[in-house]
Amino acid sequence: MDITSVEEAYSAIRNMNIRGAPALASLATLSVAQRLHNSSYNNSQELKKEVKQVCDYLYQSRPTAVNLGIALDQLRQAAEIDSDSVDNIKKAVIYQAILVWSEDVERNKQMSDNGAQWLINNLESSGKIEKGGKISILTVCNTGSLATSGYGTAFGMITRLHELGRLERAYYAQTTPYHQGTRLTAFEFTQLGIPSCLVCDTAVGSLISSGIVQAVTVGADRIALNGDTANKIGTMQSAMFAKTFNIPFTVVAPRASVDSNLNDGRSIPIELRAASEAVTVRGIELDSGKQTSVRIAPKEVGATGLHTVYNPGFDITPSQLISAVVLETGVAESKNGSIDVKSLL
Ligand code: MRU
Repeated sequence: MDITSVEEAYSAIRNMNIRGAPALASLATLSVAQRLHNSSYNNSQELKKEVKQVCDYLYQSRPTAVNLGIALDQLRQAAEIDSDSVDNIKKAVIYQAILVWSEDVERNKQMSDNGAQWLINNLESSGKIEKGGKISILTVCNTGSLATSGYGTAFGMITRLHELGRLERAYYAQTTPYHQGTRLTAFEFTQLGIPSCLVCDTAVGSLISSGIVQAVTVGADRIALNGDTANKIGTMQSAMFAKTFNIPFTVVAPRASVDSNLNDGRSIPIELRAASEAVTVRGIELDSGKQTSVRIAPKEVGATGLHTVYNPGFDITPSQLISAVVLETGVAESKNGSIDVKSLL
C-alpha cells in the first residue's frame, strides 16, 4: 500500500493497515516530512501553522501508543528553531521526521541485547536453566519488523537469543481478535527460520503452568514511570500467569514508549475497537488468494444495545507483575514490586 499524503497516513494508522507503536510514529512523521517537502509556504508563520495542524490531526489517529504523541511533539519543537527561513524550518522538521524512523533499528538491537543478556543471567543465576542452556519464551502480539523500522523489540530480544544460540523455541499467542500473532508474528518467525509455536490465547495459562516456557517477553505501547505498561490485549493475563508460576516477565521497548508525564498507568487511554473485529473471522481463501470476512457470532451480537461486544485493544499490566523493563538505555528490575523506569531516562 502506498501512502502519498498525511490523510492517507492517518487512515492507514486508524484502520491498522500499519500498526505497532514505533511503526505508526514513523509513518506519521514521515507523512509530515513528505507534506512539507512537496509544499511551498509564503512565510515561516504559515509553515509553522501547517506543522501544528497536521501534527494535531495525526495525533488523533490512535490513542494508546505514546510513541506517536512524542514523535509529533518532536516535530512541533523542530519547527520552533531560531530562524525565520522557511527552508531552514522545513529542513529541521524533515530531519527530525527521518530520525524518528531511522534511529529505530539501532536502538532495537541494543534493547534486544540488553533483554537477552538480562534474561540469560536471571535464569542461570536462579538455576532455572543450566549454564549455557536454551530458553523457550512466550510473546504476545507482533513486535518485530512489521511493527518497527526493523529487528523489533520483544521480538528482537527473541531474535537475539536465537543469534546467541540460546533459544529453544519461541511461542507466540494468536492475539485475537486482530490476530497479530497468527498473521504477523507467525510470518516473521517463518521468514527468519526461528523455531516457533503458535499458542491459542486460551492456552497461555496451560503453556506456562506446564513449564514449557521459562519466560515471557512483550513490547509496549505506553510505560508509566512506575513500570505499569499498556500493551496489546492479552498481555496482562500472560503476566499474571508468569507471576503465578514464577517465571520472568519482561517488557522490551524504546525510551520513546515511556510517558514521563505519568507516574502510574491508571490514566493511560485504552482504545476500544469496533465490534465487527470480534464477531468476524477474516482470512484468505487458499485457492484464490481472495480476502474474505465471515461473521461467526449471531447477527444481533454487536449490532444492538441488548447484545454488545467488549473489545479493548490494550490492557495495562501493573508493575507488580513485571520482572524488568528493558530499554535501549538499560534494564530496570523490579524491586519490592516497583520498577524505577526513571533511572533509565
Ligand atoms: O494494536 P496494535 O497492533 O498496534 O498493537 C501493537 C502492540 O500492542 C505492540 O505490542 C506494541 O505496539 C509494541 S510494537 C514494537
